[in-house]
Amino acid sequence: MRKQIVAGNWKMNTNIQDGIKLAKAINDFASNYNLENKEIILAPPFTHLSSIVKEVDPKKISVAAQNCAAWEKGAYTGEVSAEMIYSSGAHFIIIGHSERRQYFNEYNATLFQKVKICLKNSLHPVFCVGELLAERESDKYFEVIKRQLVEGIFGLDSENFGKVIIAYEPVWAIGTGKTATPIQAQGMHKYIRKLISEKYGVTIANETTILYGGSCNAGNAKELFAQPDVDGGLVGGASLKANEFIEIIKAL
Ligand code: 13P
Repeated sequence: MRKQIVAGNWKMNTNIQDGIKLAKAINDFASNYNLENKEIILAPPFTHLSSIVKEVDPKKISVAAQNCAAWEKGAYTGEVSAEMIYSSGAHFIIIGHSERRQYFNEYNATLFQKVKICLKNSLHPVFCVGELLAERESDKYFEVIKRQLVEGIFGLDSENFGKVIIAYEPVWAIGTGKTATPIQAQGMHKYIRKLISEKYGVTIANETTILYGGSCNAGNAKELFAQPDVDGGLVGGASLKANEFIEIIKAL
């Protein structure tokens, strides 16, 4: 059975001290909560990774980075490699977030490089796809998502693809308070699973966790997660408030 996951993407928020407090509060909750087939992932900024890893129970909470370099190592001042991230104790990594695509010119070919480097370094990619508002309104969204998947991740062999999580994050829903309706989310998740099935077969498609992201909060999580192809959420703003994030976990 595929894993259900709630992941908190803290983006460029919190200092280390506040990040530790937030992680502790979520860990306190998780220590008394039966997660069964569910998983919690926290994705703090790079600077916090090893401190947060030490704060959380690895049986309950995994830690993720939000990005990594497209190169293995060397003279790339300011970059952080997949190997460094893995050595911090993180096991997951967000790749291809729309903010990386939009502000840092990360395109599908670069993202595929990153995905391969992550897997080589034992990190599980949370690979993000999502269409812009104009692409949604002009009915191009299926086409856009297909291209992001084909160019960004479908170059992997089956064994490696089996280690990947997909996150569908419509760009128009990120940080806008305008969430996709459960029907819109389900429509896209079902389509993504169909594409995975065509490429890798039905067994792998049914095992792949597909998260929804974009203004997911304590009020809408339950209805979104109730959709058959929505396996949890990648949460931004609402993951910065322990109580709200905990309510989202309970909605799984
Ligand atoms: P918000 O939940 O703040 O809309 O952000 C979603 C997101 O980008 C998670 O990666």
